[in-house]
Amino acid sequence: MQTVNTLGTLREAVEILRQSGPVALVPTMGALHEGHLTLVREAQKRAAHVVVSIFVNPRQFGPNEDLDAYPRQMAQDTRLLEAEGTALLWAPDVAEMYPEGFATNVSVSGVSEGLCGASRPGHFDGVATVVGKLFNQVRPDLALFGEKDWQQLAVIRRMARDLDLTFPHVDAIIGVPTVREADGLAKSSRNQYLSPEDRQAAAALPAAMHRAIAALVGGEAAGTALAALQSDLRAAGFHTVDYAELVDAASLQPLAAPGTAPARLVVAARIGTTRLIDNMPVG
Ligand code: PAF
Repeated sequence: MQTVNTLGTLREAVEILRQSGPVALVPTMGALHEGHLTLVREAQKRAAHVVVSIFVNPRQFGPNEDLDAYPRQMAQDTRLLEAEGTALLWAPDVAEMYPEGFATNVSVSGVSEGLCGASRPGHFDGVATVVGKLFNQVRPDLALFGEKDWQQLAVIRRMARDLDLTFPHVDAIIGVPTVREADGLAKSSRNQYLSPEDRQAAAALPAAMHRAIAALVGGEAAGTALAALQSDLRAAGFHTVDYAELVDAASLQPLAAPGTAPARLVVAARIGTTRLIDNMPVG
């Protein structure tokens, strides 16, 4: 695996790869776990070459968020990616990604606004800006993202469609199903912040979501099913539920009940000092 840190060397390396087949991009912020490696494996099935980016993007962290504390483990990440047969690692520093004078912000209205966007102002602008740059830098044939960040995936798809980013084509932005621990908790770099007690209690999140989905599919009103979900989470030790909503899977608009269009149950809740998010299809 070749590691590149400057845009010039990235472009040269990608052009060489492209001569022998399609290139897939897996954007990450490092601290790689099984969820990321699943994206890399899925990318390998769909393209001749896999480029992984590791960049802890300051623009998607709010002033009170954990940018400095965000785990950075480049040596271990490099070993993991090498073992997976990754062709190229794109690991720019902040000055390479946002050179002096950088003044552009990509803001996707609508899908960015509710849910995580409400409690993390500016977060999705930061995501859209860096992912737009990554698409332009690598010009991949396809790109893969985890479905765990369902709203992020919706924002990226909207941004690619709106800005005519045909590399990848919007249909080549692939959402890969969430990888879960044995007890159902979605894998996340943030799980390592959980105390052992909170880690055990956190399994209540997917369990409560499954109960709510069964109730919704069984015809219970969304208000009742979501209230029960919130009280299940509080009983398990979650002190705050930022949101628990039934939404249209594409527009993220709230729904009163699952209908014919794909629907999603989306939740963000806090336990200890950690905010966990999860989402599941309904119906
Ligand atoms: O999901 C992430 O790890 C990040 O939000 C992404 C897509 C790599 C952009 O920084």
